[in-house]
Amino acid sequence: MNSETTKIYLTDLLLQAFNNLGFNTEGLSLKITVPEQEFGDYAANAALVLAKKLKLDPQEVAGQVVAEFVKLDEAKVFQEAYQAKGFVNFRLSPKSLVENVYRILNEKDNFGKSKLGENKTVVVEYFQNNVAKPPHVGHLRSAVVGDSLLRIFRFLGFHAMSDTHIGDWGTQFGILILGYKTFGNKTTVEKDPIFELNKIYVEMSSRIEQNPELREQAKQEFAKLEKGDAENRKLWQWFVMESVVDFEHYRRLLELLSFDHNLGESFYEDKMPAVMEALRAKRLALRGETGEEYVDLEQYGLGRCILVKSDGATTYHLRDFATYIFRKGQFDFYKNIYVVDNRQAHHFKQLFKVLELMGYPAERDSVHVDLGFMSLPEGPISTRKGNIISLQNLVDEAEKRAIKIIEEKNPGLANKSAVAKMVALAAIKYFDLSHNRKTEFTFTWENALSFEGNTGPYLQYSHARIHGILKKFQITNSKLQINLQTNLKSEILNLKSEELSVLRKLYQFPLVLEQAAQDYLPNLLCNYLFELSQNFNAFYQEVPVLQEKDSQLKLFRLNLITATAQVIKNGLYLLGIEAPEEM
Ligand code: ARG
Repeated sequence: MNSETTKIYLTDLLLQAFNNLGFNTEGLSLKITVPEQEFGDYAANAALVLAKKLKLDPQEVAGQVVAEFVKLDEAKVFQEAYQAKGFVNFRLSPKSLVENVYRILNEKDNFGKSKLGENKTVVVEYFQNNVAKPPHVGHLRSAVVGDSLLRIFRFLGFHAMSDTHIGDWGTQFGILILGYKTFGNKTTVEKDPIFELNKIYVEMSSRIEQNPELREQAKQEFAKLEKGDAENRKLWQWFVMESVVDFEHYRRLLELLSFDHNLGESFYEDKMPAVMEALRAKRLALRGETGEEYVDLEQYGLGRCILVKSDGATTYHLRDFATYIFRKGQFDFYKNIYVVDNRQAHHFKQLFKVLELMGYPAERDSVHVDLGFMSLPEGPISTRKGNIISLQNLVDEAEKRAIKIIEEKNPGLANKSAVAKMVALAAIKYFDLSHNRKTEFTFTWENALSFEGNTGPYLQYSHARIHGILKKFQITNSKLQINLQTNLKSEILNLKSEELSVLRKLYQFPLVLEQAAQDYLPNLLCNYLFELSQNFNAFYQEVPVLQEKDSQLKLFRLNLITATAQVIKNGLYLLGIEAPEEM
């Protein structure tokens, strides 16, 4: 029985217990949760809810349910059930916990997979780079959170697909084209396209600020682009092409899964007129004082949502309506997820509201997975202030530091630079992922790269440590060839509390994944892996493994640590982090 089927088993038995006791369970929603360790492995609030409904004493009802449940659990999946303040808490039996170790060893990289998402499509949109701008540290969160969510959804059986929604359309291209035409140089741009194009954009923007008449010219350049002007089209295509090459470079640099779709904002250009028509037909599109068209969302406290500007240019909003409608029709998604920083919260509220008014269930099937801002110690990463750190700089710096640490800790290590790269990426990604995505936090090298505490390198280190122990065992027992997967009976193991802590944690893995997917919170997985590693390290300190005299016990403990390494590896994979066996 895995933890998913355990939950089903638990639910079935509970319902049966209620029925046997003569309680009417109609309309009762049974919620099973994973409580703090001291309260057992599972907790159910059903008795509490039912007692309140029937005006009975919750403790009394829960007590009766417990007694009935124990009778029904003939398979002894649970060691005990007990009531606490009306909650019914359950503790798994050693037998279940030990069986789980062998399941992990059998299922290996597949342990934790489920069919939860069968026949459900999820669109995950992240790493929405903008054409002609180098991605900076601010783009990192969306990249790593989106990549991790995609991995988790796929692991749970969802048909999950990714899209980048590249920023390749909008009035900023008027500025860029005007800048290029005014003072750009083809040969210079060709040498270092994104850097030079960004420079042109920044320079042109500041010229516009000093001379507002230029803004009009820039607007006209974009209007020309939208109308299909040959020269502007050609320039734009060139800029986009260079940027796409650049984005791919960063995707590889960060070792993100490849994207299923790269449908940029411009992809929706020919789909916007139909959206406008629908909005007008539904009388949602209103004409403003200066000729712009908008949807009035004042009654929802969401202001006005501009669709078309007074100069006729389409807006970011309008492209997003077209995007949603296209995705809905094309992919028939169950969830449509936007991993975007929280400064766009208002935008997505407007987006979902207008779509609802048009008759789409966007407030239910779409989610803005909002991200807090990551700052550097010097302050927030802002383009205007100039303290922007490019993603390239960040990764390069991390590698440099990781190599130095490895030189100190393990100078004899083979393929040092490959491992350093794994550690560097782990440090950066994990630091980001381990913070609740909604929070604001400051990035520091000391915290990210530490081999102690809740860090990526610490988890990698725990994983490598286990492999070190296993290697040692294999070297000294090369002639023994003991099959690690001998199913030992839990009764003879006399499990110690440190062992039980690891076993219980291992059992929770699939449930944690479910929770992380449900709340779009990879940090739940980080916390889990950190606790598992801590439990393992405490176990290894207290309980002999290689030194154990009893060969049965020794074998079991080797199995236990092998399973632990496997779960850390699976978890790290779902965070987009590699698990070297030596470091
Ligand atoms: N490229 C946009 C920006 O940098 C983010 C796109 C977010 N996604 C969306 N569907 N609106 O602000």
